[in-house]
Amino acid sequence: MQVWKDYQVTHKDRFLEELLELLRIPSVSADSSFSKDVKACAEAVKLRLQEAGAEKVEICPTAGHPIVYGEKIVDPALPTVLVYGHYDVQPADPLELWHSGPFEPVIKEEKIYARGSADDKGQFYMHVKAFETMAKTGTLPCNIKFMIEGEEEVGSANLGVFIRDNKEKLKADVVLISDTAMLSLENPSLDTGLRGLSYMEVEVTGPNRDLHSGVYGGAVANPATILCKMIASMHDENNHITIPGFYDKVQELTKEERAALNAAPFDEAEYKADLGVDELWGEKGYTTIERTGIRPTLEVNGIWGGYTGEGSKTVLPSKASAKISMRLVPNQDWKEISALFQAHFEKIAPKSVKVKVTTHHGGSPYVTPTDHIAFKAASEAIKSTFGKGPIPMRGGGSIPIVALFEKELGLKTILMGFGLDSDNLHSPNEKYGLANFYKGIETIPYFHKYFAEMSK
Ligand code: BES
Ligand code: MN
Ligand code: MN
Repeated sequence: MQVWKDYQVTHKDRFLEELLELLRIPSVSADSSFSKDVKACAEAVKLRLQEAGAEKVEICPTAGHPIVYGEKIVDPALPTVLVYGHYDVQPADPLELWHSGPFEPVIKEEKIYARGSADDKGQFYMHVKAFETMAKTGTLPCNIKFMIEGEEEVGSANLGVFIRDNKEKLKADVVLISDTAMLSLENPSLDTGLRGLSYMEVEVTGPNRDLHSGVYGGAVANPATILCKMIASMHDENNHITIPGFYDKVQELTKEERAALNAAPFDEAEYKADLGVDELWGEKGYTTIERTGIRPTLEVNGIWGGYTGEGSKTVLPSKASAKISMRLVPNQDWKEISALFQAHFEKIAPKSVKVKVTTHHGGSPYVTPTDHIAFKAASEAIKSTFGKGPIPMRGGGSIPIVALFEKELGLKTILMGFGLDSDNLHSPNEKYGLANFYKGIETIPYFHKYFAEMSK
């Protein structure tokens, strides 16, 4: 549509300036010392939604960080799209590995470098600007509701409560999210699923105090050594997870489904070079695409204990701990998996130590039905602006609220992400391509157009 193109060309620079301004706000949800910034970011999102043409824009307080809501109902008889995104970001550390300040966005080689540039400020903001394009040119083909939250990166615990309590307000026909990646701008793809998550913390305690490692070492079990052994035993020689019952409910794909998934372009040499590893690792019998999409995994996210300061200290620590998460696939249940993990961890602990296992948060996996009209609308939208249809993929990450949209609101979700796996999400030097940002703004209005047409 020429009116959209003209509008977007005219306002191109302002769109980017506004995004950079959002990226300057350190809205780190995990760290309470940033809660003022998180609040300021919510205010900024509210203002931008209002300017773009949304109505009833409000900041909805929660027990944690607030949710920003806004809507534009052009005609109650038309279909409604609920756009979800998150304005919170992951902590920026380790700071010393950033080439420029995580909250001082810079543009280098056509990419925006900043925490949150791809995950998810740069992506949800495309929706705000796509909406502005349609609203200001009088071409909005359907109703839109925005729900931009501030706790995605810490598990969305309060959003679950919010959607349960606001079913009428959030009434819609489909949820649209840009918070995933595509293969590349040359090979656009749509994620047809997300993995679930079960996040655990373990603590192993040995002696009742830290000990001199010369006086007691060799006579008393070292909790750090025991913890490492216990963790190492959770993968067997084929890198299968050893927790009894872990795979019981895993949905296996058919040969045809696996072949279709593996038809996606994947350059192993490039993948290894990008990560700086000489060899890949993973569950035997599955390809990298399968290992990161349709298979469950178990990863140590952090491990600590004993002396980690400068220089050396000879000590046998009293305690050692780790944060361990498991990615889940259909039909694994995160509460069940958390319980299996706990029982197993307690069972394999030797008598020389005591263990404590805590569940942090979790979420269910999700699969998008590819025969849904909204999936077709997304495919057509991509075809319109990329010149070719999307390859269906499975996203390896998790957005736990997506399964709850289905459970609480009865809504399917379309994952129309424009990022890249190599955008350094959660890592130093997170980036988002300018071309991805603008391509998203260009593509999103077509989704609304086709979805409204196909809903007739
Ligand atoms: N945007 C990501 C999820 C994602 C990334 C999905 C890439 C597919 C591909 C999201 O912000 C995220 O990081 N989610 C967390 C889960 C949360 C409970 C902390 C995750 O996946 O670790
Ligand atoms: Mn995200
Ligand atoms: Mn994230």
